Amino acid sequence: MSDSRLRLALQKSGRLSEGAFDLLAKCGLTISRAKDNLYGRARELPIDVLLVRDDDIPGLVDDGVCDLGIVGENVFEEHRLSSAAAPNGPASAVMKLGFARCRLMLAAPKAWAGDDVAAYEGKRIATSYPALTKAFLDSVGVSASIAEMSGSVEIAPKLRIAEAICDIVSTGATLEAHGLKPTQTVFTSEAILVRRPGEFAPEQAAAFNSLMVRVNGVIASRDAKYVMLNAPRSAVDAIIELLPGADSPTILELAGRPDVVAIHAVCGEQVFWSTLEKLKALGATAILVAPIEKMMP
Ligand code: PRP
Ligand code: ZN
Repeated sequence: MSDSRLRLALQKSGRLSEGAFDLLAKCGLTISRAKDNLYGRARELPIDVLLVRDDDIPGLVDDGVCDLGIVGENVFEEHRLSSAAAPNGPASAVMKLGFARCRLMLAAPKAWAGDDVAAYEGKRIATSYPALTKAFLDSVGVSASIAEMSGSVEIAPKLRIAEAICDIVSTGATLEAHGLKPTQTVFTSEAILVRRPGEFAPEQAAAFNSLMVRVNGVIASRDAKYVMLNAPRSAVDAIIELLPGADSPTILELAGRPDVVAIHAVCGEQVFWSTLEKLKALGATAILVAPIEKMMP
């Protein structure tokens, strides 16, 4: 194995994988995939991509088979709680990536009365996340037995494998389709970047640093907008106050209009229609909100 390239583990297919490829594309990386679809190579930075099952990613990064991984916090945390200590120390989370948001939730047949957690006492709960489920049940003082399943958990009640489940909910459509209702959130998750224990070789460290600059730039510019408007000089302070997450806006003179200035600002947070309406009410005119493609502080 070469020490000059970074090996990044990604989910082969699924929601996490779409978000991860989208993020890499926004970082300016084109990944050419090998025919077997298990391996890819970035053209612009020395990064190799391994396409695997998401559940295998934490282990691959713990063991240093991969240097980096993009995985759901749910899978990462379940692995951390349930596996033996890695010889060189465990993989660590580098940063949250802001996509693949979901919740691990207890869910019961709709016929159950109410949605009190006490209803799970003494019941059998099917899940692919036994450690997270048990930790939650312990924390609320409920004792239940756990039926571990590696997938299709939502059919467990119908098959009488269990009376309830604890599974990932994103839109809620899967639960709905199986006559189940979510009752408690056990764990809140999104995609994270994880790295192996230990130091990177110099070329790997350089590639990692470039990747981090790009990922941070993509995340920072995701909601960011460039806002331009004209404002009565008397309302400048009130208008700047309204611009979400704007750091020292630029104020420009307008030729022949002593009472009016132009304000240009990078807004770090979403700019809503309601904000524009408030700006207008303060006398702002010619309001322009433009997307920002890239940002580097
Ligand atoms: C989860 C879960 C459900 C589905 C719920 O699977 O097991 O099948 O997503 O999503 P919904 O609320 O939008 O209907 P996941 O995508 O995590 O796949 P995996 O467990 O096979 O990795
Ligand atoms: Zn999975």
